[in-house]
Amino acid sequence: MTGQVFTSGQLRERYLAFFAARGHTRVPSDSLIPSGDPTVLFTSAGMNQFKGYFLGRRTDLQRATSAQKCLRTGDLERVGKTPRHHTFFEMLGNFAFGDYFKREAIQWAWEFLTGTLDYAGTRPSPDREQLCLRLPAAKLWVSVYEEDQEAHELWRALGMPEERIKRFGQADNFWPANAPKEGPNGPCGPCSEIYFDVDEQVAGPQSVEIWNLVFTQFDRQPDGSLKPLPKPNIDTGMGLERLTAVIQGTPTDYETDLFAPLITAIRALPRQGKVEAQRAAFAERAVADHLRAVVFLLAEGLLPSNESRGYVLRMLIRRAHRLGRSTLRIEAGASKIFLSRLIPAVEQAMQQSPYAKVLAEKRTSIQKAIDQEETQFVQTLEAGLSRLEELIAKARQAKPAVLSGEDAFKLYDTYGFPLELTMDAAEEVGVQVDRPGFDKALQAQQARSRGASQFGGDVFATERLAVRQALKDLPSREGQFVGYDALHAETRIRGLWDGQAWVTSAVAGSAVGLVLEHSPFYGESGGQIGDTGWVEASDGRAEVTHTGWVDDVLLHQVTVREGQLKVTAVVQARVDVERRIKIARSHTATHLLHWALRKVLGPEAVQAGSAVEVERVRFDFSSLQPLREEQRAQVEQLVNARVRLVDDVATDQMRLDEARREGALALFGEKYGSTVRVVRIGDYSKELCGGTHVRHTGYVGQFQIVAESSIAAGTRRIEALVGEAAAVQQQRGQRL
Ligand code: SER
Repeated sequence: MTGQVFTSGQLRERYLAFFAARGHTRVPSDSLIPSGDPTVLFTSAGMNQFKGYFLGRRTDLQRATSAQKCLRTGDLERVGKTPRHHTFFEMLGNFAFGDYFKREAIQWAWEFLTGTLDYAGTRPSPDREQLCLRLPAAKLWVSVYEEDQEAHELWRALGMPEERIKRFGQADNFWPANAPKEGPNGPCGPCSEIYFDVDEQVAGPQSVEIWNLVFTQFDRQPDGSLKPLPKPNIDTGMGLERLTAVIQGTPTDYETDLFAPLITAIRALPRQGKVEAQRAAFAERAVADHLRAVVFLLAEGLLPSNESRGYVLRMLIRRAHRLGRSTLRIEAGASKIFLSRLIPAVEQAMQQSPYAKVLAEKRTSIQKAIDQEETQFVQTLEAGLSRLEELIAKARQAKPAVLSGEDAFKLYDTYGFPLELTMDAAEEVGVQVDRPGFDKALQAQQARSRGASQFGGDVFATERLAVRQALKDLPSREGQFVGYDALHAETRIRGLWDGQAWVTSAVAGSAVGLVLEHSPFYGESGGQIGDTGWVEASDGRAEVTHTGWVDDVLLHQVTVREGQLKVTAVVQARVDVERRIKIARSHTATHLLHWALRKVLGPEAVQAGSAVEVERVRFDFSSLQPLREEQRAQVEQLVNARVRLVDDVATDQMRLDEARREGALALFGEKYGSTVRVVRIGDYSKELCGGTHVRHTGYVGQFQIVAESSIAAGTRRIEALVGEAAAVQQQRGQRL
């Protein structure tokens, strides 16, 4: 027994309440689909949503606490084979941004876990004690980074015996792991980990790492040096599943209340025969793990596809199906599918979580999507299984027994077999798959289909950090862009990038990246293309051919047409007004289209991406069915009716939670700060949006859908024209 037994729901709540009582703002979990961070596919840690605070770009919070939904696929093969690896999990965390540091992080972690103030068991006041977990001190031990004397001393000062403090190197006790040696550049720091060992051993076989306290105190530089951050930060992470297993005294995470209903439901499915116990235990756990991930990803509006995130979702569904059918030998009946029967068990396990309501609301669409993907996979399997078996048999004969990268790719490309499944099936009979060969074949195909890049701007091919470092005291992102109202600004040149280095001047004929102190040019973001126009100095002028963001710096791609441009020169920056109005027209039309689609298809039609261009809109959305002809006409009519009614388009700044409460639509792929810009049209459309819009819907002029297609399973694309382009298209249509 480890003290009092709590449910996972109570643990989540106690943790947040404990840190709220210590001045931390409770911040809701960010979406699993990370917003505004192209470096990661999924949110993988509690700290992801706070990156802006760690880098000092945001300052409106000093302390925060969260229970973050996370997804990691790096350890996929281990899931189910070990007691505590998962794809989907929740991470409890407390964060400080230039506020408290190691001392408080260590003391509070100890207090929360044990309910005591030190190793000797000194009790705090009863009101402080009431949220703590009361784990026995003798079962806890810690590790510190070998060079972090301060952390070591802080643990010693709490009375932790020397032999219960291990010192490890940067592979174990630095976050990100090995950052000093290998990067990435940016915020990092030593960490101290807290372990639980039921046998009271130190580093024994039963030791479970439960909490990682990261002392984010360095900014790794491109030359590998560790520059101390002006204000060090705290980032802690504790897996809720592991903590629950420790508190509930279960041998693995899968017996806790977070998984037990699901494991029971999987076991209750009829089987065609007996399965060896160890293999069954592994497969049951992996299916349970994958199903949780699948249900949460679908609840966030993601749908299976062949690309990036959608592919991961597809792969998890297919892997769960295959483990169920071939390893557990589940008897699935005539439909041959079974996964969606487990959804109620996921809901049951999440009943005490903040997600109970959304899971119930999305139940039907989650079920539909799982059934559809699983059915499609059953058909794929039937068509390709004999081919897979043939290729594996051929590979078995070879010495060494390796399935070639091209064959694995053919199975993937032609038969829809995710690589992971081919690997699973091959490895079951001792055949290895040539992974690098597969990657090569995949890359070759991607290069073929990508063709020429849309923007030839080599000047932007620059290490992101170098831009930020060279231009340190630039105004903030919001301060640089002044173009919501003004399309002209008198400003100053702050930087010129010639593709290799920052230079002080650029002469006629050269193409450079230009940074201005303030700029009316909209930088490509949120699907809206960047502005073009002119920048004029007293002794030269340059054409702006594209504007985009590199990190938080607005970078104008320019060609100097006359004279020269010099850093610090005062310039007149003029946006191409007509083009901007045409783009604004498209953006307002995009919001109208989004509103109309949801009206016609229901709230499941979620925006999955968009391109807002000159009188042209491309809009991707999740939907399991194509838009029927009459629905397409209905959408067009709804939009054009609102255009003719000349509704006001207004923008407001408000707090994110307020905007959410008011029901503003927030989209994937966008990072929202705690203050957000909300664009409303009339009283029917409200979206968080940083783009430029016309002042009323009448300016859109006309709206016409020109194409509707499928771009991936479950994702449809609408292409539409607005304004003059729509009028011209219509005239053409009539003349034909
Ligand atoms: N970022 C650290 C981790 O993911 C602590 O939250 O382990």
